[in-house]
Amino acid sequence: MMRYDVEAIRQDFPILQTTAHQKPLVYLDNAATSQKPQIVIDTLLNYYKQSNANIHRGAHYLAAKATEEYEQARETIRHFLGADSADEIILLRGVTEAINLIANTYGESQIQEGDEIILSVMEHHSNIVPWQMLCERKKAILKVIPINEKGELELQAYEKMLSERTKIVSIAHASNALGSIHPIKKIIDLAHQKGAIVVIDGAQGAVHLDIDVQELDCDFYAFSGHKVYAPTGVGALYGKRKILEAMPPYHGGGEMIKEVSFEKTTYNGLPFKFEAGTPNIADVIAFKAGLDYVQKIGKQNIHAHEDQLLQHATKQLNAIEGLSIIGTAAQKVSVVSFVVEGCHHGDLGTLLDAKGIAVRTGHHCAQPLMAHLGIKGTVRASFAMYNTLSEIDQLAVGIQSAIKMLK
Ligand code: ALA
Repeated sequence: MMRYDVEAIRQDFPILQTTAHQKPLVYLDNAATSQKPQIVIDTLLNYYKQSNANIHRGAHYLAAKATEEYEQARETIRHFLGADSADEIILLRGVTEAINLIANTYGESQIQEGDEIILSVMEHHSNIVPWQMLCERKKAILKVIPINEKGELELQAYEKMLSERTKIVSIAHASNALGSIHPIKKIIDLAHQKGAIVVIDGAQGAVHLDIDVQELDCDFYAFSGHKVYAPTGVGALYGKRKILEAMPPYHGGGEMIKEVSFEKTTYNGLPFKFEAGTPNIADVIAFKAGLDYVQKIGKQNIHAHEDQLLQHATKQLNAIEGLSIIGTAAQKVSVVSFVVEGCHHGDLGTLLDAKGIAVRTGHHCAQPLMAHLGIKGTVRASFAMYNTLSEIDQLAVGIQSAIKMLK
């Protein structure tokens, strides 16, 4: 393996050379969104300079060029997820749209009164609210897997919860708030034994963990481009062909149809049945550039680096008096959430920001988790391929000086 040259990687990200409040930017809010390498920015710009046209419908040079670039992106995503066919890759806005799509198509057609949907207490609001809305419409029941004090799922409770009434299990690959990596293979196998389908919210998983949807045997896997060094507003949903084919469409409009008449409309094949309207063409093409960049650096190399950052941050932060790390699961992605006795998380975030250090504070779109933990929120530092050990040291010093000011 070549030496992991974090300084060279940093040079690829123009925003990392900028300042915040006249201080060099220390960007530790990667679980919210990652920064973009120059190649992603260039791809976006070049698309509008050289390829811009609507796809799948024009009879001209540019339409063919844009269509080819767009479909190449789908193929790259297929490969990234280990899917069998590009027909199983639906391009959409991101995980939120993906889960709403599943709830409104699969859920709407399959769920009946008294059926059960299982989530965990650690889910992001985007993996709670669409299911709650579905349960309200269908009089179905939402069940919630509890966690232990480390922030790990209670698998025995999950096993007990499963029954013939379970129709859908929807779980994050990794928690955005605590970083815990969930044993999704086991979760999927257990659900399948009861005939339930499994949806994996890969918003935090896709950037940090290896994915092979065929080996996992998940029924759906969704992720967002902007957390994987690609632009905002694009994401992908993998679904098993058989399930996607049987599902009714989501949005109606152009592109998703075969034949339209006022008497009857027939629908297009996969994946277009779920892609009504002109999509976010430029950003999908730049999505490919982001995934290619990850591929070039090497997922294994990135994981090893991020793991080193996580270990270092855990050690440095644990040494700070009054600070408690929330979420100490044995398997974690590079996310460290913490609270400090006597200091409000929002105040800590503001004081860190004044030093140029970007973290997220609050409930992290996981209010049920915060209620379960009996807290209002945490400070969350989350690391990416371009972060350094020295930035973590700056975070630790920043926290210590913030505590002095607040106490
Ligand atoms: N889900 C994103 C986060 O955890 C926005 O910050």
